[in-house]
Amino acid sequence: MPTFYLKSLVVSGILAGFAVATGFQLLSQEPGKAPVAESVGGSEEKRRELSEYMKGRYLFQKHCVDCHGATGRGNGPFAAELETKPRNFRTGMFKFRTTPFGMLPMNDDLRRTIRSGISGTAMPVFSQLRDDEIDALIFYLQNLSRSWRDPALLAAPLAIPSLPGWFTEEKEAVERIAAGKARFAGLCVICHGEEGKGDGQGAGSLMDAWNAPISPANLAAPHHKSGDSPRDLYRTIATGMNGTPMIGYSALLEEKEIWELVAYVRDLGRAPAMTVK
Ligand code: HEC
Ligand code: HEC
Repeated sequence: MPTFYLKSLVVSGILAGFAVATGFQLLSQEPGKAPVAESVGGSEEKRRELSEYMKGRYLFQKHCVDCHGATGRGNGPFAAELETKPRNFRTGMFKFRTTPFGMLPMNDDLRRTIRSGISGTAMPVFSQLRDDEIDALIFYLQNLSRSWRDPALLAAPLAIPSLPGWFTEEKEAVERIAAGKARFAGLCVICHGEEGKGDGQGAGSLMDAWNAPISPANLAAPHHKSGDSPRDLYRTIATGMNGTPMIGYSALLEEKEIWELVAYVRDLGRAPAMTVK
């Protein structure tokens, strides 16, 4: 297939320089080894990966570099203006995951973020992109950091249990919300503040892993970055947000205790008359 061969040669030429910069191991060359075109030509699988990578790179340059930067370091031309900085993909740390605290996200987690955007930040909704385009973007992102080759950072998602029955039974819910409030006072108030407005004692001095100041979320606000449903909040509290002081509580709290916190956080966002004092 001469056309394909030609295409892959051109693509490999572009990539040869780029591979060094990204550490794209699959295709990177050591001096004196066979040129990329040859080694790539040797395997159907590698050829497929290369074309997926180039497609992802093209889409990234088209839609993402203004914020995330040409090399994915989070330093695009818009970044300086933004209060919440675009993610630096070189560090391999991701906030929005179904996996335990500290671990890499699943492809579905990245897909959810790219499709739905991040509420309250500049990260847009990319609902216009096709599934295969999002897949290519994800593949590209996963080649921007070596973390993705560290098996110690790969983990299965935590199961999110189904909503307990008491959530919708008003009388019992009131008791559970009170239990959640007490636990919140012990564990969360230091950052999120008495009323969850993000103004706790420790709030003013927090930094994230990318060296930017970070504020605890206002939990009384109607929308949260990682979603507002009870299951979204469960996931956030259980898995935490990598790179921020918001740790995951799945190893510290029981399922029931996390649900009580969820009920309390939901209650914080309601009209004052319904709030447990
Ligand atoms: C207008 C600016 C802007 C553009 C354009 C943009 N992003 Fe973002 N993105 C952000 C900001 C800001 C954040 C950080 C949000 C936060 O940390 O709460 C972010 C975060 C992310 C995250 C991190 C999610 C996590 O779990 O930590 C991913 C993945 C992401 N963007 C992918 C993309 C992709 C892919 C594109 C292009 C298709 C893109 N972004 C385009 C601003 C942007
Ligand atoms: C050490 C400080 C700290 C503690 C303690 C803490 N948080 Fe957070 N929390 C944060 C920060 C900072 C953010 C914002 C992270 C961001 O926007 O990237 C946050 C965000 C959140 C969010 C919003 C997530 C979203 O999707 O936007 C929820 C919900 C939350 N915390 C609940 C809790 C609960 C419940 C507790 C106690 C069990 C708790 N936090 C303890 C610092 C803390």
